[in-house]
Amino acid sequence: MVYEVNRARRTEVLRLIALGLLPTLAQGPVIRRPHAVRVAAALDSNAWACRALDGLRERYGSGPVLVSVAGRQALVLLSAEDAHRVLGETGASFTAASKEKTAALSHFEPDAVLITRGASRKPRRLFNETALDHPAPEHRFHEAFRAAVREEARPLLRHGTLDWKRFHAAYQRIVRRIVFGDAARDDERITELRDALRGDGNWFMLHRKRHRLRTELFVRSQKYLDLPEPGGLARAARATPAAADVKPVAQMQHWFFAFDAAPIGAYLALGLLAGHRTEAAGARTDHAYLRACVLESQRLWPTSLAILRDTTVETRWPGGPTVPAGTAVIFYSSYFHRDARRLPYADRFEPEVWLDGRAEADWAIAPFSRGPAECPGKNIVLFTSATLLAELLRLQWRLSSPHRLGPGRPLPRTVDHTSLRLTTADRPAAADRPGVTD
Ligand code: HEM
Repeated sequence: MVYEVNRARRTEVLRLIALGLLPTLAQGPVIRRPHAVRVAAALDSNAWACRALDGLRERYGSGPVLVSVAGRQALVLLSAEDAHRVLGETGASFTAASKEKTAALSHFEPDAVLITRGASRKPRRLFNETALDHPAPEHRFHEAFRAAVREEARPLLRHGTLDWKRFHAAYQRIVRRIVFGDAARDDERITELRDALRGDGNWFMLHRKRHRLRTELFVRSQKYLDLPEPGGLARAARATPAAADVKPVAQMQHWFFAFDAAPIGAYLALGLLAGHRTEAAGARTDHAYLRACVLESQRLWPTSLAILRDTTVETRWPGGPTVPAGTAVIFYSSYFHRDARRLPYADRFEPEVWLDGRAEADWAIAPFSRGPAECPGKNIVLFTSATLLAELLRLQWRLSSPHRLGPGRPLPRTVDHTSLRLTTADRPAAADRPGVTD
């Protein structure tokens, strides 16, 4: 069979590997490697990857381009229309359970909906949507989540400085409380197990499965579900009807894992707000605005570096290539989120685009994906992060590391959150405000 397809040449493939694939793999698709993040930010590796994709677009037009890497065929998306189609047709001609994603995530969450194909996907997706109250803006337990966030924010307000280590540790406690309930607040072992297995996931199928660690993780998680009165999302999970094949603990592993991207987005949002603060501007700190700031931070530096699909049937693009079932499809998030051809605000911090409908209307801006596999935890993340930002913004923060997060120059396409530091000068006055107590 002859397939009409724009096929990248060898030199172009090598360029894509060097500028896109290797930096993505080095940074860690499943759990970030801080040293590699630092190097990627110093080189602004995302900007190079975007340039390589621009090069393909100039040569072949906006249709997808077929790239062959080590025998694996992958279509690289280059137009917003194709991105919309692929995300929208997930479950029909495309599966979210791509080969590579399945290899990576099965180290710690086999049976999670995201890597489920076939008949089990529907009941698992329904279970997730029901327990997570998707797409309601607020989860039924949001008051308890807010209380947990406020408690964990307090120690952060007591120091005059904020660094990633302290911020991340506080957010991890929030995550354990929201996912498993307050009883898990200090269960650092469960986080350690998750992260060890995520480290294995960074190596896809090249790392052996560590069954003993995974069993320990699952047993520990089940313990919180089995409490007489489970807390957090565990309570919602227990109240949700589940067919035999749903495996609630496996679904919860994804919630626990995916939540770990939230601190990155929230911390960078705080950095952006600090960088954009002017004495004249009375900064907005209402929930809707802070929610938009978190979304904007995720647009600028998507924590899901790429969204992957596999075709499930022979697939044809109008006027373009036809590819066989089993072809990988790559949506490189930064390329679409920073597309200056379409987005006048591409390299600026502009939370307003999430308030006036511009970003929502554009399916190529997809930090939480779109369509049938859209993240059902999105509103929980946004609620949690916006609530935390509101607490922290009781103080006025300024950047104390040399990050370029202010207005005036285009924002870099790659950023190192781990070395971002903030300080506050007005701690004593603000700490007197109601609600900021030990
Ligand atoms: C900043 C944090 C998060 C980000 C950026 C994020 C992003 C995403 C993205 C991009 C996808 C789709 C992946 C794909 O299409 O291949 C996804 C799927 C999913 N997310 Fe999230 N997520 C986050 C946190 C969460 C949390 C906290 C939960 C649960 C409490 C959650 C639950 C899920 C589930 C269950 C799926 C699978 C959906 C499906 O396969 O139908 N996510 N998320």
